[in-house]
Amino acid sequence: MEELKTVQWFPGHMAKTKRKIESQLKLIDAVAVILDARVPYSSCNPDLRSIINNKPRIAVLNKCDMADPRETKKWLNYFRNSNVSAIAVDCKSGKGLNAFIPTVKNVLADKIKIWLSKGMTGRAVKVMVVGIPNVGKSSFINKMSKQNRAKVEDRPGVTRGNQWFTVGKGFELLDTPGVLWPKFDDQSVGEKLAYIGSIKDDITDTETLASRLLLYLRDNCSDSLCSRYKLNQEEIKDFRGYELLEAIGKKRGMLISGGEINTERAAIMVLDEFRSATLGKITLDKVDENTNVGI
Ligand code: G4P
Repeated sequence: MEELKTVQWFPGHMAKTKRKIESQLKLIDAVAVILDARVPYSSCNPDLRSIINNKPRIAVLNKCDMADPRETKKWLNYFRNSNVSAIAVDCKSGKGLNAFIPTVKNVLADKIKIWLSKGMTGRAVKVMVVGIPNVGKSSFINKMSKQNRAKVEDRPGVTRGNQWFTVGKGFELLDTPGVLWPKFDDQSVGEKLAYIGSIKDDITDTETLASRLLLYLRDNCSDSLCSRYKLNQEEIKDFRGYELLEAIGKKRGMLISGGEINTERAAIMVLDEFRSATLGKITLDKVDENTNVGI
């Protein structure tokens, strides 16, 4: 099967983002790290821990409406056991967001006590929001602040102003002052981000991508796959990815002239159904004893 093309990333731009974030760290009290609950490991920037240094941080597992709730629970435990406060949210509906401010205040309890003892009652809590493209930073800021974060394209070279958003009384969010990239040097990370649609399809081959995803689904959640596409588990157990794609195209009557199966159409459908969680709430990154998310 064809290799997925490796995505370019830009160390120079990363260094610039790093400098920008570092220069803002003195203005803020904590960092909200937005992650995609389906891929909490793959959606984390590899340099984040060194960039945010010792700032208190909160892991926000977003899009939990599309992740497997049992896996999300394991991820929350993983972060909490690593001494990182974590919450699961769904920024489409707003579910779970009520926990954000209390969690931040809890993380900053000692600091807030000191402010109060110094009579700094009006001091706002300031939190920087960071995350790789497409994890839901805009959605998070918009939902929390009930304002519209101007959608700035997350690509190298795009300048972002310093944007502060007020969230009720005494709480402010700072938009990320740069673009953080995922771990592009790890092929499996690139693939997972492509499966969930965080990396645009035009840089990968759709049929190859869908074939690989189907293999993953066959090996990890065969029930969901078989019930959605009326496949026989026994029959497909030794199929290669492309054969799975053909079987699905055939079941769905996706044929082109001459009776050939339109595997491109089938690939688009499979990816769409996976990305919209029509295929089920599926988490691709699992917690195990080697898990180490750098935040
Ligand atoms: P970003 O700023 O980090 O780049 O992410 P953004 O908020 O733009 O979100 C990326 C996509 O993810 C958007 O979809 C957004 O609606 C969706 N999204 C964000 N949070 C959640 C969530 O908790 N659950 C679900 N299901 N989706 C979420 P889009 O299709 O790119 O845009 P739109 O059509 O929704 O406007």
